[in-house]
Amino acid sequence: MKPIQVGLIGLGTVGAGVFEVLRRNREEIERRAGRAIRVAMVSRRDTAQARATVGDAAQVVADPREIIRNPDIDIVVELIGGKTQARELVLEAIAAGKHVVTANKALLAVHGTEIFEAAQQQGVMVAFEGAVAGGIPIIKALREGLTANRIQWIAGIINGTTNFILSEMRDKGLDFDVALKEAQALGYAEADPTFDIEGVDAAHKATIMSAIAFGIPVQFDKAYVEGITKLSATDIRYAEQLGYRIKLLGITKRREGEGIELRVHPTLVPSKRLIANVEGAMNAVVVNGDAVGTTLYYGKGAGSEPTASAVIADLVDVTRLATSDPQHRVPHLAFQPGAMRDVGVLPM
Ligand code: HSE
Repeated sequence: MKPIQVGLIGLGTVGAGVFEVLRRNREEIERRAGRAIRVAMVSRRDTAQARATVGDAAQVVADPREIIRNPDIDIVVELIGGKTQARELVLEAIAAGKHVVTANKALLAVHGTEIFEAAQQQGVMVAFEGAVAGGIPIIKALREGLTANRIQWIAGIINGTTNFILSEMRDKGLDFDVALKEAQALGYAEADPTFDIEGVDAAHKATIMSAIAFGIPVQFDKAYVEGITKLSATDIRYAEQLGYRIKLLGITKRREGEGIELRVHPTLVPSKRLIANVEGAMNAVVVNGDAVGTTLYYGKGAGSEPTASAVIADLVDVTRLATSDPQHRVPHLAFQPGAMRDVGVLPM
């Protein structure tokens, strides 16, 4: 069978990770996908830099629309981040009949409903494991592993930058600004770190998890969002003395008969809890379902290869489904935008 053809839009840290992991683990990945996966095209404004990464293994272009217009490309992987251009490109790719894989949480949290409706109309898949908690397969856990459950609540450390800052402030007594600079130097922070420290990035991810867990449209604008900028070293020390750690948590919860809570804020977590001991840039998500009880998912929430691991998992899923008979394909990779429209999202 002809290899599935992939076009990567954006060849930064994550894109380079996708290229490298696919190269290194090609045999296993293709065995699991049941078909060869070829990254045929990559786009990056700095084409010389892109060529340095991919050599002559893929065609390098500066204009991402060359990828979208190419009839041979089956899957478009969007890794440019941001909302405006990413939205246009993803919608154009869908309109051109391409399946889409994206790690763009801001895009999906704000424009997810529009994107998933467009995908449903076109009969293409949009997969986004890399958008939430990096390498932790939390989307798969919510959608597949826990599919038998009525999810009651989710609470997670889903922003590595802020968890790193809080850990450094507590352990090393670092000032907020110094710890933030360190997180930026290590490549954890967003291009605009305000998104991290003001809780926006965590709220994007909590919004996506909430939509999947509760079958509601993405409603980022209704989330309560508070970051860590008002916290001082003294708050952290006092919390410690009282037997707590301060963690920035993204929380979404079912309130029977009322709606769904969706909030991000610093939270006092008893020091003995597993999640209180998640340090540095690591992420952890706790999910409670009525049948399974409480489950915990832990791992790297950012970085080149952890995020690439999630993006490639999506590539494998989409490859398997795209290779199956469309008549019998379960569209489990999309939200159900029409479901439970009347459920409101309550802040607190
Ligand atoms: N800035 C994000 C974080 C990157 O710190 O978690 C991964 O989404």
